[in-house]
Formats: sequence, structure tokens, C-alpha cells
Amino acid sequence: MIRASTRVAGVIGDPVRHSLSPVIHNAAFRALDLDWVYLAFPVPAGEGAAAVAAMRTFGLDGLNVTMPHKADVIPGLDRLSPAAEALRSVNTIHRLGPDLVGESTDGIGFVDALVRDEGFDPVGRRVVVFGAGGAARSIVLALGSAGVADIAVVNRTASRAEQAAALAPEGVGRVGSEDDVDQADLVVNATSVGMAGTPEADAVLLDVRRLRPHQVVADLVYHPIRTPLLVAARERGAVAVTGLGMLIHQAAHAFRLWTGEDPPLEVMSAAALAALAPA
Ligand code: ATR
Repeated sequence: MIRASTRVAGVIGDPVRHSLSPVIHNAAFRALDLDWVYLAFPVPAGEGAAAVAAMRTFGLDGLNVTMPHKADVIPGLDRLSPAAEALRSVNTIHRLGPDLVGESTDGIGFVDALVRDEGFDPVGRRVVVFGAGGAARSIVLALGSAGVADIAVVNRTASRAEQAAALAPEGVGRVGSEDDVDQADLVVNATSVGMAGTPEADAVLLDVRRLRPHQVVADLVYHPIRTPLLVAARERGAVAVTGLGMLIHQAAHAFRLWTGEDPPLEVMSAAALAALAPA
């Protein structure tokens, strides 16, 4: 039941009607019997800071931020977390007293998915990240903070690879090549290659014959859940990690920041999977 007391969270973006966040968060609110609701707000490009002002005016209690507003919202906020500051990108806004605080939960969500769901200890590991966009940058920052020994960033556009690699500590982040896959403990696809509905839906951006049984191969693409890269990784005997883990754990961080409650991870994951399942 939505009442006068119901607290409101949501996501701003354009497009936003495809977002899985309403399904994930509303399932979590219901499971914990919280008097909260989560909505999708279509906000046109250029209106991110105005949306933050509206958040204050309407007394919304939490927002997620997606394309094209992750940088635009920053001028409207009072504070940024260290990750959001380093990335100059915000995916979650929460209230701290009178302040609106911008946070970036993707990178830590990715590390949580590896550590908690797969039992992967990042300390001292060698990593290859394909891609240098917002998702890749958040992962490089978080893996660098989590203590990996080496992060090779491989990207079609080399200048972006350098910028992304610089987010890891000195001597850890570097621009790499596909050859780095041979020595890697963890291989991450943070590009859109393999995403359903795109021209590269059937593509894999590395020679899968390089993959080996002890490696962990993670794809951030979660539509489809089993991308061509993950199918190949499994065939090669590697551990395949779907994009669902990062999606759920980044949401879990936001949920905790907003409500102060422990997120019901199983419920959130089941809700996302049900929404992703072909009709
Ligand atoms: P996101 O915020 O999801 O990370 P993005 O910032 O648009 O999205 O980044 C997309 C990433 O996928 C980039 O690294 C992009 O490479 P470029 O920097 O060279 O554009 C990469 N990418 C997209 N399509 C690709 C393709 N067909 N082959 C290789 N890389 C691709």
C-alpha cells in the first residue's frame, strides 16, 4: 500500500524505461516490509542538476543516476564520496542530514560480486579490463583499491585506456593488449560487445583460445545473461561471472545507504532474473 508516509526513491536517465532498478528495489522493499517505493523518472539530457534540485524540493530519499546524467548531477550535490570524486561520476544520491551526497557504487559492487559470490580474493592478482568507459573506470578504481597487483586496460581508443589505467595506483594500472590475457587471473569485459540488440551481439573481443581453466572471466553485459564470451569461457573451463552480480551488488550498496537496512540479495537477484527471462 502506498500511503502519505511512503518514502520515494528512483532512477533518473534517458532512456530509463528499460531499467531493472525499479524491479530490484521494489522487490527488496516488499521483502523487508519497508514503506518505500522506487520509480523510474525520464529526465532529458542537460537536466541532471535540475533533477537534483527537484529531489530536494520533492523530498525524495534516494536516487540512482544513469546515462546521460552521471556527471551532470555533480554541480547540484553538496558532497561526493571519494570514488565519485575520483571518477567524476555519480550513480547513487543519498541524504546525509541536510546534504545530498553523490556516490559511485558500480566498482565496489563489482568487487563485492567477485569476493562474496565467487570467493575471489583480489589481493595480488593480475587483471585485464577490456574497455575504458564509465563502467571500466569504476572497476579499475575499485580493483586498484582492493589490492590487485596489475591491471592491464585494453581499449579500442588508446587515449581512453591511459586515462582509465591512471585510476589504479602507480605501478598497478597500465595500458595493455590482448596478450595480457595469457597471464591474467581475472579477465573483465567492460565494453558493450556481446550485448543483445547491438551489431556486436554475437561478437567476442578476444581470442577465446587464450582462456584457461583457473581464470575468472567476468562480463558486465547482463542481457543476455550468458554472453558469447561467458559461453566460451565456460567451454574453456574458466569460471564465468555474469553481469548480474555487479548489478545486484551496486543496487545493494544504494539500498543500504538509503534505508540503513541489510539488502535481501537473494530476493533482488531473483527479481532481476525474472525480469530478464525471455517472455
Ligand atoms: P559505459 O558507461 O557502459 O562504460 P561507454 O562509456 O560508452 O559505456 O564505454 C563503452 C566502452 O565499450 C568503451 O571502452 C568503448 O571503446 P571506445 O572507448 O574505443 O569507444 C567500448 N566499445 C564499444 N563498442 C566496441 C566495439 N565494437 N569494439 C571494441 N570496444 C567497444
